[in-house]
Amino acid sequence: MTVLSFSIALLLLACVTWQTLAWSNMADDYVKDACNVTQYQDLCIHSLAPFSKWARQDPCRWAQAAVSVTTDETKRVTHYVINLKKNETLRGTREQRTLSDCIECFGDSIDNLHKSLGELRSLKSVTFDTQMKNVQTWMSAGLTSEDTCLDGFNGYKERQVKNLCNRVLNVTYMNSNALALVNKLAEDGGGSINTSP
Ligand SMILES: *[C@@H]1O[C@H](CO)[C@@H](O)[C@H](O)[C@H]1NC(C)=O
Ligand SMILES: *[C@@H]1O[C@H](CO)[C@@H](O)[C@H](O)[C@H]1NC(C)=O
Ligand SMILES: *[C@@H]1O[C@H](CO)[C@@H](O)[C@H](O)[C@H]1NC(C)=O
Repeated sequence: MTVLSFSIALLLLACVTWQTLAWSNMADDYVKDACNVTQYQDLCIHSLAPFSKWARQDPCRWAQAAVSVTTDETKRVTHYVINLKKNETLRGTREQRTLSDCIECFGDSIDNLHKSLGELRSLKSVTFDTQMKNVQTWMSAGLTSEDTCLDGFNGYKERQVKNLCNRVLNVTYMNSNALALVNKLAEDGGGSINTSP
């Protein structure tokens, strides 16, 4: 009797352990699968891994996750630029103007990312194509804004400017990945979204 319940307990434990393992491996596969369409795969996997269990194989959720993490990073970089603008070492008129332009561009970019996320969260089968075209337009505009910021700093050698450009590039890569996941969703078509009529 005791031997039997002990065996059952062992069996249960084995099942639970196996399930947990299978579960986490599957989660890894989901994010790798989703990131397959992106250009910067390591960055994609690193930044989207936490969404794996939620998004699984749902292209709409992956697009939402990517836009969401891009928004967060864009906000962080914006704060960084705002602080940099206060810094004594970049007091020159030209530097100040370039930084102001960057802050404005990032503001536009954040607006576009918010609009995109709103649209992705309210997709309807009947308006799917129009909604996805909007998102694609807004996400591409975001990439242009970031490039504008980088162009402004062409030729600068300061360490702070180099750090800034690296962070802006990072945002550009995240935005590019998000656009790839948005394009994937658009290709899959309205049939792939779960909507109630
Ligand atoms: C995506 O995955 C397929 C196999 O599933 C592979 O052949 C292809 O090279 C991958 N694409 C990229 C960009 O890694
Ligand atoms: C300004 O630059 C100095 C020197 O690079 C740095 O130590 C400081 O933290 C910077 N301040 C801000 C607000 O970024
Ligand atoms: C790029 O963004 C990711 C995700 O937010 C972050 O973890 C990483 O530190 C960033 N890298 C650089 C160079 O800013």
